Amino acid sequence: MEVTRRLFIGMAGAAILGSAALTLSACGAPRGAEQPSGAGATAGASAEPTGSTGVASEGPSPATVPAGTDAIVVYFSRAGENYGVGYVEEGNTAVVAKMVAEATGAGMFEVAPAKAYPEGYDECCNVALAEKNGGARPAIAKDVDIAPYKTVYLGYPIWWGDVPMCVYTFLETHDWTGKTIRPFCTHAGSGLAGTAGSVASACPGADVAQGLAITGTTAQNSRDQAREEVRGWLA
Ligand SMILES: Cc1cc2nc3c(=O)[nH]c(=O)nc-3n(C[C@H](O)[C@H](O)[C@H](O)COP(=O)(O)O)c2cc1C
Repeated sequence: MEVTRRLFIGMAGAAILGSAALTLSACGAPRGAEQPSGAGATAGASAEPTGSTGVASEGPSPATVPAGTDAIVVYFSRAGENYGVGYVEEGNTAVVAKMVAEATGAGMFEVAPAKAYPEGYDECCNVALAEKNGGARPAIAKDVDIAPYKTVYLGYPIWWGDVPMCVYTFLETHDWTGKTIRPFCTHAGSGLAGTAGSVASACPGADVAQGLAITGTTAQNSRDQAREEVRGWLA
């Protein structure tokens, strides 16, 4: 596990520097996974990295939005096999996203790729790396109109030192003028890995506030601590 952790951190650094060092075949199996939580992973079709773009569905679909709020939590998260947590029915970022929504009263919208990422960790790592190296913008299954919202809490896992490519699909198809984005991520050692800057680049016109980084194991297995970290960030 320590090897994998160092790999993530080194890889994130390489990504920040724009290095071409991202030649690793996988981000490493989650060996020695601690405290597996939840036996049944959601089914994930084997995904091909694709260069397809845009939204695959009929258009904006309802987020869970309480009336009268001007904030929304938009997040991507993947259930299945993951680093340090085993198989989970609910992804680590989803756990944190719910905490943010609970603490703020904001509605929620989940970014879902049209073609699900593999549930297996190594397989997902391979797909994600191919997408990143190819600059893919995988189609997403549904969309939400963000026009009514002043603040967007944006949650994602760190993938290969970056924001997952399907999140860029979402970001790049909306008008962010005048909006505040508060990015939060879960990770396995890389922290935010410079992704607040990447989000700012993808969202011209937005004010991107200081981000929050929570380890996936904390989100999944130490929920009180995760909730405290969320509260501290929001305060
Ligand atoms: C494809 C892939 C790439 C990953 N790359 C990194 C990484 O570069 N740095 C890191 O700290 N963690 C990395 N991780 C670990 C995830 O960021 C971490 O497990 C996160 O909490 C997963 O969130 P989720 O359950 O919401 O998908 C990676 C995981 C996957 C599946």
